[in-house]
Amino acid sequence: MKTVGIGMLGAGIVGGSLIRRLVEEHAAIEAKTGLDLELRRVAVRDLEKARSFEIDSALITADPAAVVDDPDVRLVVEVMGGLEPAGEMVLRALRAGKPVVTANKALLAERGPELFAAAEEAGVPLLFEAAVGGGIPIIRPLSETLAGEQIERVIGIVNGTTNFILSRMAEDGATYADALAEAQSLGYAEADPAADVGGGDAAAKAAILASLAFGTWAGIENVFHEGIEKISKADMKWASELGYTIKLLAIAERLDGGVSVRVYPAMLPKAHPLATIRGATNAVFIEGPSIEELLFAGPGAGGEPTATAMLGDVIDAAREILAGAEVAPRIRFSPGELVAFESVDTKWYVRLEVDDQPGVLAQVAGAFGAHDVSIKSVLQEGRGEDATLMIVTHLAPEASQREARRAIEGIENVRSVASVVRVESPDV
Ligand code: NAP
Ligand code: HSE
Repeated sequence: MKTVGIGMLGAGIVGGSLIRRLVEEHAAIEAKTGLDLELRRVAVRDLEKARSFEIDSALITADPAAVVDDPDVRLVVEVMGGLEPAGEMVLRALRAGKPVVTANKALLAERGPELFAAAEEAGVPLLFEAAVGGGIPIIRPLSETLAGEQIERVIGIVNGTTNFILSRMAEDGATYADALAEAQSLGYAEADPAADVGGGDAAAKAAILASLAFGTWAGIENVFHEGIEKISKADMKWASELGYTIKLLAIAERLDGGVSVRVYPAMLPKAHPLATIRGATNAVFIEGPSIEELLFAGPGAGGEPTATAMLGDVIDAAREILAGAEVAPRIRFSPGELVAFESVDTKWYVRLEVDDQPGVLAQVAGAFGAHDVSIKSVLQEGRGEDATLMIVTHLAPEASQREARRAIEGIENVRSVASVVRVESPDV
């Protein structure tokens, strides 16, 4: 009998969907895979809330260790989120020789090498297809199918909440607050949505994608990230007039000095494949010398698509358990250089509120020029006290752009640097 007992750590948005699928689709999964996936234990904090699941209440516990240590649990699914106790429980399971399936990108980006080493030592898989891109198969393609490609660049929309918010603001005129509340109600946001809107969730995913693409571990501490909190409708309007759309991008690329990994809202030409990605959809665009360009797109957040990705991992791990052989490590990292963001070349869009006095534009241009930043285009709106300047620069080191900004802030007739958005466009 090909039975594998499954223990779940967490039964929230993702865990709840997975439990329902394991119960309701048990026969269909068995028919398709020959596996009898048996839910053995479930850990939650609020036992009352968990009683709504159509499972034997004796299976539910408030003690995650009781799930991991249960001798009938041969495979552990971690969907609690957060660093602890999730980290301790994942290690405990791996050290006990139990495969782990997790959706926890925050934990992997923080402690990946330690967790992968524990899995390798125990000879069991640690699978995380759901950790990036929700329901999009991206981890396996990147770490297995594309293992032989010399990947040059990975650029992705990897946070559903922020893409949903930006789409609702740009297309429907929604306010930032209303769009965020809607994303939360649809189950896209993290327990603390600050991780979504502040770019931290995308940074964790960028660290994972970069590590898989380039084979050099890029921990979360090496990923520059900026969120979407400061993006205004005025920036969206100007982006559109300039031929761009604004997206929160996760970028990992091989540069001369090493690998750069970064996350920020950026203006992207409307013709770029990622510019058309709307709502909670995620997409990952991969460039390499042989594959040229690959685009993976699909539902990036929400219980059901994420549960599908996890179910695939569960089936994979269950097959490994039943095969009985020690699992060869699927992921290896070697030392490599990471490039500090300050030395990466970026292009900036800068919106300035200025007094419309003779010579102001020359002073602003002078400040950019003094820091070796060349200007691509300038637009002015309004006259008199309300003048607004929109400037797009050519590529220059991020550090130079920042120094130019500081100099501009010191110009008397510049009332404020209202916003800065980086521009990701091959046309400058
Ligand atoms: P969630 O709705 O907040 O669910 C978390 C679950 O874990 C709840 O059942 C909670 O129990 C339980 N839990 C938390 N701490 C616990 C503890 N100390 N002991 C026992 N149970 C504990 O979160 P989620 O949205 O399902 O996300 C889970 C994971 O999946 C996170 O790592 C997240 O980043 C990742 N993820 C989420 C999505 C998505 O779209 N939501 C997509 C991809 C990946 P109570 O409810 O009783 O508190
Ligand atoms: N909060 C995440 C998002 C969930 O919005 O993309 C999927 O990882």
